[in-house]
Amino acid sequence: MNPLNHVAIIMDGNGRWGLKKYNSRNKGHRAGLDTVEKVIRISIKHKIKYLTLYAFSTENWRRPKTEINYLFSLLENFLKVKSKQFQKNNIKLKILGEKKFSKKLNNLLIKSEKITKNNDKLQINLALNYGSKKEIVNAVSKIKNKKLKITEKCIANYLYTKNIPDPDMLIRTGNTTRLSNFLLWQISYTEIFFSKKLWPDFNEADFIKLINKFKKIKRNYGEV
Ligand code: FPP
Repeated sequence: MNPLNHVAIIMDGNGRWGLKKYNSRNKGHRAGLDTVEKVIRISIKHKIKYLTLYAFSTENWRRPKTEINYLFSLLENFLKVKSKQFQKNNIKLKILGEKKFSKKLNNLLIKSEKITKNNDKLQINLALNYGSKKEIVNAVSKIKNKKLKITEKCIANYLYTKNIPDPDMLIRTGNTTRLSNFLLWQISYTEIFFSKKLWPDFNEADFIKLINKFKKIKRNYGEV
């Protein structure tokens, strides 16, 4: 049985779910937040140490302003309520991506990271304004500026995910089979699972089924 240390998730399908059910993409994002809370609880139950959630990509800025504002207001309320609970429950929050939001949201993100930084039961990595290609370009330019030797280890040390082990499994919901510029460096040997369910419908049974499937896979890492 494979140990499961790090799960990364592309939470896709909120918009379609909301449109179908309530004629509102934002209602889908609201419902998606309930699934976020669900997967956090399940991750703790299954002793997963790292949970990485793709919440907002560098490409998501192309969405209508009203949707972007709604997503950030959801995030703000989530952090206001949850960072204290994270602190109490020994959960560490880390942001992957460039913190280029409103001053208020930036400060809230920095504060939430700061107050939870010594926690070690579960680390939640929230990918926000995250783009994998940008992450790699930034890393390489920093290495170049410092005139360091470019090695795999060195690049890994300049990514947002420094000191975070690579994901063991990546799940994408929403019945779409693409990676959308997410963790392209880090998922070289990650097991990838696609779920047909839209994110708000993704439930504990779906998650457990994929975890059990992952645990039985023979991971070769190029060997035989
Ligand atoms: C992708 O679905 C989802 C997002 C871009 C946002 C993810 C946000 C949440 C799960 C809720 C907020 C989370 C936090 C942590 C505050 P989509 O909108 O692209 O869906 P579609 O493919 O059906 O349009």
